[in-house]
Amino acid sequence: MLKGKHIILGISGGIAAYKSASLVRLFVKAGAEVQVIITPNGKEFITPLTLSTLSGKPVISEFFTANTGQWNSHVDLGLWADAMVIAPATASTIAKMANGVADNMLITTYLSAKSQVFVAPSMDLDMMRHPSTTRNIELLRSYGNIIIEPAEGELASHLIGKGRMEEPENILKAVDSYFEKSLSLKGRKVLITAGPTFEKIDPVRFIGNYSSGKMGYAIADEAAARGAEVTLVSGPVAIKPDNASVRVVNVESASEMLDACKKYFPESDIAIMTAAVADYAPAHPLDHKIKREKTDFDTLELVKNPDIAATLGAMKSDGQILVGFALETDNELANATEKLERKNLDMIVLNSLRDKGAGFRMDTNKISICRRDGSCVAYDLKPKKLVAVDIIDAVSSL
Ligand code: CTP
Repeated sequence: MLKGKHIILGISGGIAAYKSASLVRLFVKAGAEVQVIITPNGKEFITPLTLSTLSGKPVISEFFTANTGQWNSHVDLGLWADAMVIAPATASTIAKMANGVADNMLITTYLSAKSQVFVAPSMDLDMMRHPSTTRNIELLRSYGNIIIEPAEGELASHLIGKGRMEEPENILKAVDSYFEKSLSLKGRKVLITAGPTFEKIDPVRFIGNYSSGKMGYAIADEAAARGAEVTLVSGPVAIKPDNASVRVVNVESASEMLDACKKYFPESDIAIMTAAVADYAPAHPLDHKIKREKTDFDTLELVKNPDIAATLGAMKSDGQILVGFALETDNELANATEKLERKNLDMIVLNSLRDKGAGFRMDTNKISICRRDGSCVAYDLKPKKLVAVDIIDAVSSL
């Protein structure tokens, strides 16, 4: 999986830097091209000569080469990389990455990197468990970086605990399996609904809900990152997908969403229904603004909207996978499994509004994934981007 891949290996100033030489060798042996970027302190632990000999490329450390004036472009490097691996990542480098303190070449490149970033922390156990380090690592995770957890064992200080940089072989495996996973949906067509629907009352008013679309957009980005061709049928939201390859079809009402879904579903391998579809729409939307004094009605008459997920469930053919969401406030599991059956879904993602940090407008979510065989797996509270990874992993396993 690593053959021909461009890897930036960022080395900061910790004793584990001596292991980075083996990591360069392993990447090169696996067929990757490695560009080492080392911090000024990193050079105190391992020489650039060792690293440039192993990688076959001059090591970069400064913003420019003093005697020639040659500028090292962190922007070009960020675009060149298929992955960036920071090993070892010291407490100081982690803190700078978490807070955007761009005072060396490694951090400027990190901030410019478009690719997946892997961070292999290495430090003494007390530094590792200090609240500032814990918080910074969580921040990095929330930005979508992959943390390669340090191992437990004897540390350079002779203390025993967590903080030892993971072995180079395991860092290589983590990067390799990322590339393997990144192709897991290659060639698959994925249809996703997201956001609220707005049901028109008159030209200035509608019935809507608080859905921000964040969960559906994160799932669309994750599916696209794994090589899928994604069509995102979206109600009115204020966000855009990060991944430019996602095709966005903008709709407003439930019936427009249904039409778009009916159009794209037959060619889809997977459909994931995250939209918070309004259950009812005004029976007689007006073309003129309703005036306060001269009310056209006393009561708003509503009609039931179509159930998009159930419609697709009835259209579903063998080999197609249909995933629904359930947002519940009580009897969560029973309601979710009832929806799974009724809408002919293959999987349902349950979020309970009773869980703190879950639901509408949040950046985090706490889900359970239930399947047709009756199994339900509960996940921890996580940023929506990471929840999307769990959901796409579960869908891929189907
Ligand atoms: N859904 C849909 N079309 C609708 C209503 C819901 O496609 N008109 C989809 C949602 O996108 C979600 C799943 O069905 O994937 C469950 O949505 P939810 O609102 O929880 O279910 P409802 O069937 O509306 O049930 P209720 O509101 O009674 O809980």
